[in-house]
Amino acid sequence: MNKLIIGNLKMNIISKIERDNYFKSFRESIRGKKFQNTSIILCPPIIHLEYFLKGIKNKNVSFGVQNIYWENSGAYTGEISSNMVKYIGAEFVVVGHSERRKYFNETNSEVNKKITAIFKNKLTPVMCIGESLAEREAGKTKKVITEQINKGLTEVSKANISKLVIAYEPIWSIGTSKISTGEKIMSVRILIQKIFADKFGLAIGKMPKILYGGSVNYKNIKEVCLEAGMDGVLVGGESLYPASFMKIVDVLEEEN
Ligand code: PGA
Repeated sequence: MNKLIIGNLKMNIISKIERDNYFKSFRESIRGKKFQNTSIILCPPIIHLEYFLKGIKNKNVSFGVQNIYWENSGAYTGEISSNMVKYIGAEFVVVGHSERRKYFNETNSEVNKKITAIFKNKLTPVMCIGESLAEREAGKTKKVITEQINKGLTEVSKANISKLVIAYEPIWSIGTSKISTGEKIMSVRILIQKIFADKFGLAIGKMPKILYGGSVNYKNIKEVCLEAGMDGVLVGGESLYPASFMKIVDVLEEEN
């Protein structure tokens, strides 16, 4: 099964010059490459999405956005709908990222509304879940993750659950260069699968893809993804440097 590698560019790439440089460097880094085992999904800031979509035509690269609002259209100043995202040609939507939960008070119930809307528009949600350091140290990882999954998917149909992508990102690992161990990541993966089996009766072959995120780079990718049995990774910081990002892909291609 192909590994997914998602590049979350967050609120970066500010000017046209930066955009053009990133774009050139990204195209350069995939030139001539044949990806056998990896699918790349790039989530640029929405303002650059169309430019990227038009310029990067590679069957192994698709596009996503970092957030949407759950209504399709209307008087919601400043918001973008999944319907708009679909029409412009992106396929994935990141939902419930810990930065959105922290800075924009995004709740599990809003995550549920967003995921429902994303599926209605036939896009793929990438649902981010994960515990804080305090929660981990207090032994609450299981409780937090169970709650995020249960409350974040209350209205999502069983048929759609298998199409979901889950990104397990321990919050303390995001942007900190601290990573969890392969063993611990694997144990959370098993926990997530158990929640899906218990709540939705999913068989192992029908499980959503489960990715790891948090300070992923080409040096730790073997441990956090391959050794931990994950289906891919969500990459923040390193995705801002196409050459480094592609080194992660190279390891996945070689080892997978
Ligand atoms: P990071 O970000 O790779 O910079 O830790 C990951 C994320 O926020 O998804």
